Amino acid sequence: MSDLTFDGKIAVVTGAGAGLGRVYALLFASRGAKVVVNDLGGGRHGEGSSSKAADIVVEEIQRNGGTAVADYNSVVDGEKIIKTALDNFGRVDILVNNAGILRDKSFAKLSDADWDLLHAVHVKGSFKTTQAAFPIFKKQGYGRIIMTSSNSGLYGNFGQANYSAAKMALVGLANTIAIEGGRNNIYCNVIVPTAASRLTEDILPPELFTELKPELIAPVVAYLCHESCQENGSIIESAAGWAGKCTIVRSNGCLLRTKLSDKVTIEVVRDKWDKITDTSKVERINSIQDATGALVTSLEGLRSKQEGVEEGETDNYEFNNKDAILYALGVGASVAKPEELKFLYELHDDFQILPTFYVLPALQAVYMSNATQNAIPGKTVSLERILHGEQYLEIVGDLPQEGALVSKTKIVEVLDKGSGAVIVTDIEICNENGELIARNQIVTFAVGSGKFGGPRTGTKIIPCQNKPKRNPDISLVQKTSVDQAAIYRLSGDNNPLHIDPNMALLSGFDQPILHGLCTLGFSVRLILAAFASYDTSLFKACKARFMKPVIPGQTLRVNMWRENNRVFFETVVVENNSVVIGGAYVDLKSVSMQPLANKLATPELKSDAIFEFIIDQVKADPNKAKSVGGLFLYNITKDKKQAKQWTMDLKNAKVYEGTPEGKPNTTLTISDEDFILLAEGKLNPQTAFMKGKLKITGNIMLAQKLAPLLRANAKL
Ligand code: NAI
Repeated sequence: MSDLTFDGKIAVVTGAGAGLGRVYALLFASRGAKVVVNDLGGGRHGEGSSSKAADIVVEEIQRNGGTAVADYNSVVDGEKIIKTALDNFGRVDILVNNAGILRDKSFAKLSDADWDLLHAVHVKGSFKTTQAAFPIFKKQGYGRIIMTSSNSGLYGNFGQANYSAAKMALVGLANTIAIEGGRNNIYCNVIVPTAASRLTEDILPPELFTELKPELIAPVVAYLCHESCQENGSIIESAAGWAGKCTIVRSNGCLLRTKLSDKVTIEVVRDKWDKITDTSKVERINSIQDATGALVTSLEGLRSKQEGVEEGETDNYEFNNKDAILYALGVGASVAKPEELKFLYELHDDFQILPTFYVLPALQAVYMSNATQNAIPGKTVSLERILHGEQYLEIVGDLPQEGALVSKTKIVEVLDKGSGAVIVTDIEICNENGELIARNQIVTFAVGSGKFGGPRTGTKIIPCQNKPKRNPDISLVQKTSVDQAAIYRLSGDNNPLHIDPNMALLSGFDQPILHGLCTLGFSVRLILAAFASYDTSLFKACKARFMKPVIPGQTLRVNMWRENNRVFFETVVVENNSVVIGGAYVDLKSVSMQPLANKLATPELKSDAIFEFIIDQVKADPNKAKSVGGLFLYNITKDKKQAKQWTMDLKNAKVYEGTPEGKPNTTLTISDEDFILLAEGKLNPQTAFMKGKLKITGNIMLAQKLAPLLRANAKL
């Protein structure tokens, strides 16, 4: 293999007048880099200054045929050091933050000056140089940064509290710079050296001292700075011709409660302390995602292999009508639809619980069980990286409206898909008398847990079903609320991914997403509306595959195809036309479509979503609407027939379906399709008017003022 060179590269090494820095500078120069040899030339404790230290190293490099300039600034003025590189060589590619001092004292005797000076040189100095170089690295799409830490920081050392703290601060600094720079090919790593130098001459035993040559570490630092090295955000320890990587590990920990409703007490913590701190089995933590994880809150206790409900064990779930009502609100039931009042009012003559409520005990049972984590022999499945892939629910007995349920989980199949593992869990739910009332099957995909030598295909997954190849028989549309996930999570799925914007970002989403099971609850409720006249006793089973996330506030369209007692369905987000639930069906005991379904089966209009969006806009900024003013009536046509009417009462900042109370100032008639084109900006309103696609009666001038409101909808 060819030699690694640094031709054309500019390297800045701080504190390069002696010790490790000097050897780094010599090595870079010997491999073709032009080097800025920075050194303040002060004493071991940070006192004084002299240009001699840097000058001697520059002369040495030049004697060897290399190129170098001296810089005598303190690293605290880091930007001046980077300026030296730019003034002399026009660029900078490599920055080794190496300068350092010691002011050792036992902690009790440590003075403010001992603390401040230490932090100024190590932490502030590294910050200043790196911040000055960072934009240059970013612009050129390349940069390599080294921070110098110490075993005193990683593990502590008597008499070095100030030094330990500063050295550990550099690890934190490097961790974040590695994340922020990584995408621009700016890599930042930490070196933890042990070498003979004036800093260690009275610390290291004499017999070791002579063996710990800085020359044995310099190649490790130089490799980390080479453009071919892809290491980023790592802590590399090196000494005496050895190098290794340090990483953070965490014990498997232990569950502090067996039910979500259990309290965690100080006594429980005491009793489980041995298990909490048992590091005989550990997990490597590589990132904040690993540490906190998308499912951290709801799954926080499930790391332990020793605690909790084992496979085949049971989990208790207690509920009352308040839980059922909260769930119904969570899946979009509303008193605005009189037929749905029975899901929301416990004293209703016909109070009913939505059948999909019975996914909740199953989900809790899976959360409380360690079976998923231990599904693959010899491996611990990372719960943060589990995706809910498919859900099956079947009702087999009479459903109680309150009381206690017992759920039993069992992993029935684990498939090896290479990139991950498919884990199939069956959950049986029994009533207080032990009678089976419902079955669930949850199929999860454990990202990164594949390649364990298991079977690729299996027989236990209840299959999804393809929808018929014809237009849907019925489509129902409902907009979710921006608070939908905030409400739904109160039914037990507290995963912060659905509420916390930071957690959502960590999981790769721009904003919190709706629970897949919430979208399923919406869909099944609308299917019951269309094909069961909202009679929940007609529900038998449902199966769904979760395909894409829904953002709270988006509009769901459930496309339904009926064949005998089976209703195939797919759920689509209207705003971006993406299918979020597919391969899905609901089985009914029998179909009941009269008279409700006929009422509901009005053809769905695409413009509904735009009007829903306008409603949100107007609510968010009523003054903007009021500034336009006017009372508008929209006649939306479909197949040349009037299909829907919408009122935009901008004087009062109100938009609603139907006709206004008073006489509209302006009436606009347009087809559903053309309205979408207008909103998307693909149809010019003037052209539409001239071509007769848009008919306007009343105050035409006022209609022109609508343009900004409509243009805003082009986003859709
Ligand atoms: P050293 O004392 O031989 O070299 C440090 C150099 O930094 C000196 O030439 C000094 O003049 C310069 N310097 C000090 N303050 C400065 C400032 N404000 N601005 C510019 N230059 C300044 O020490 P050594 O052992 O080579 O240490 C290098 C780095 O490695 C330090 O950060 C040290 O904390 C770290 N380290 C060293 C270990 C070892 O075993 N030698 C162990 C762990 C960490």
